[in-house]
Amino acid sequence: MTARKITVPAFREAAAAGRKLTMLTAYDHMWAGIMDEAGVDSILVGDSLGMVVQGHATTLPVTLEQMIYHAEMVVRAVRRALVVVDMPFLSFQISPRRAVASAGRILKETGADAVKLEGGAAQADTIRAICAAGIPVMAHVGMRPQAVHQIGGMGRIQRNADDLLADATAAQDAGAFAVVLELVAQAIAADITRSLVIPTIGIGAGPHCTGQVLVGPDMLGLTTDFRPRFLKVFGDLRAAAGQAVREFIREVREGEFPDDAHSHS
Ligand code: KIV
Repeated sequence: MTARKITVPAFREAAAAGRKLTMLTAYDHMWAGIMDEAGVDSILVGDSLGMVVQGHATTLPVTLEQMIYHAEMVVRAVRRALVVVDMPFLSFQISPRRAVASAGRILKETGADAVKLEGGAAQADTIRAICAAGIPVMAHVGMRPQAVHQIGGMGRIQRNADDLLADATAAQDAGAFAVVLELVAQAIAADITRSLVIPTIGIGAGPHCTGQVLVGPDMLGLTTDFRPRFLKVFGDLRAAAGQAVREFIREVREGEFPDDAHSHS
């Protein structure tokens, strides 16, 4: 039996019914399939792929074409989860008109369910314009990686309660169906979650958000260079993969592989 697809209304209804929502990032068909089969509620094709997949120091170099390329792979694997695609740097900041065109390309060319963009009050007109085109928007407030040069680094906990609440509220009022809270002090994230009608999805924002998102390769232990306090590593897949590769090398060198069972007569 195929599980029922999680749509944007179903995502909001699940939150309203008190379910803690789960979201992970994935950037390709294989990992998206694993996460979808495991039952995650939503898969985010994050522009974190600039760092995790492409090896850049920030997310700024990621292009709209690259996001579409990765999102297509993810969508082909997903049967159930809500697929949300990040709008990369400069694909939405220039004008609401340009943002609608970028978001429209993402939905049209990938088959994803929604877009995510960084910003709250400053992007309210843009969120409103994209929503008016029938495209669901997840907002992202708190630490905004695309503003890395403005804020002077990626790891700073956001504690300005008034600004954070104003940003999240502006995003909700503009039509966002959910909002990511990144690196927000937990008491502030709890207040925002209580104040909003739409779900909050926290990353480094404590346990009181409606749901939680993590970068897939980080929580699987595939990456090694990023270990902030908020990150819980649920698996040690880098060690397991390294061990399998070392075993392959040894068996080939020692003439153990391929044996008869792995050879054709
Ligand atoms: O790009 C990304 O992976 C994200 C998450 C950290 C929320 O925006």
